Amino acid sequence: MNINTLITDEHISFYRENGFVKVENMLTGEELEQLRDYLEEAMHTESSRSVQTDKQGGLYYRVLNQKVNTWRDHAGMGKFSFHERFAQSALALTGSEEIRFFHDHGLWKMPNDSKPTPWHQDTPYWPINEAEKGMMSIWIALDDVNEQNGCMAFVPKSHKVGKLTSIDLANPQNIFDYVEGGQLNDQKPVVVPLKAGSCTFHNGLTFHYAHANVTDRPRRALAIIYMPDGITYSGKAHVITDELGLEKDQALKGPLFPLLAKRNT
Ligand code: SIN
Ligand code: NI
Repeated sequence: MNINTLITDEHISFYRENGFVKVENMLTGEELEQLRDYLEEAMHTESSRSVQTDKQGGLYYRVLNQKVNTWRDHAGMGKFSFHERFAQSALALTGSEEIRFFHDHGLWKMPNDSKPTPWHQDTPYWPINEAEKGMMSIWIALDDVNEQNGCMAFVPKSHKVGKLTSIDLANPQNIFDYVEGGQLNDQKPVVVPLKAGSCTFHNGLTFHYAHANVTDRPRRALAIIYMPDGITYSGKAHVITDELGLEKDQALKGPLFPLLAKRNT
């Protein structure tokens, strides 16, 4: 057992070897109910503080009804976006000195004409210089998820192929075409159904996918993006950093990117 009560040595070695790991029961039953209520309210709040990626009827909306930085619309979301248990888990899995918050996403995969989330890596979208430093996400299921309603799948060891290209999620290229030298030929995708309140963590370089939602209810999830120590701004356009007046190559820290967990020395 490591620095928190949920992450075991098995989780850590699986994560480092494969680039993702499933952790069951990350939320208590009470937390799950509260988070469902808060996220429901946040997703229905209109404001200019958070970013709604697409509107109903849009092509991307069929992939994801996504709101970025829900914590800026709903104070209750702060309890979860900055939750110590999640950040301590990220610290243990990455082995970094610190974990800082980058942003959160409400990720609802809507019913009716739903499209899968295509295979992609997250790191190519982020405005950071250090692609190989282990930036990563937690993805928490707020509903039971399986292949019918949009559970995730991961390609083991794909975080070891390095940063490729940012896939257009609404009109996707095939990310496997960018892998050189048959590096992933031996790897089969692993489908990860989850119970509500359980989660996965994935490295920003790990190939991942989510099935279309063919049920009649939204598939609700919260993702939180974490930065290990030493992440700097690349100057690339990104909704989270565009209006902040940051200098290229400066450290990503400060009030919008709080320190959440630190290794005991
Ligand atoms: C999804 O929720 O469908 C995709 C999440 C991700 O790309 O990390
Ligand atoms: Ni992703």
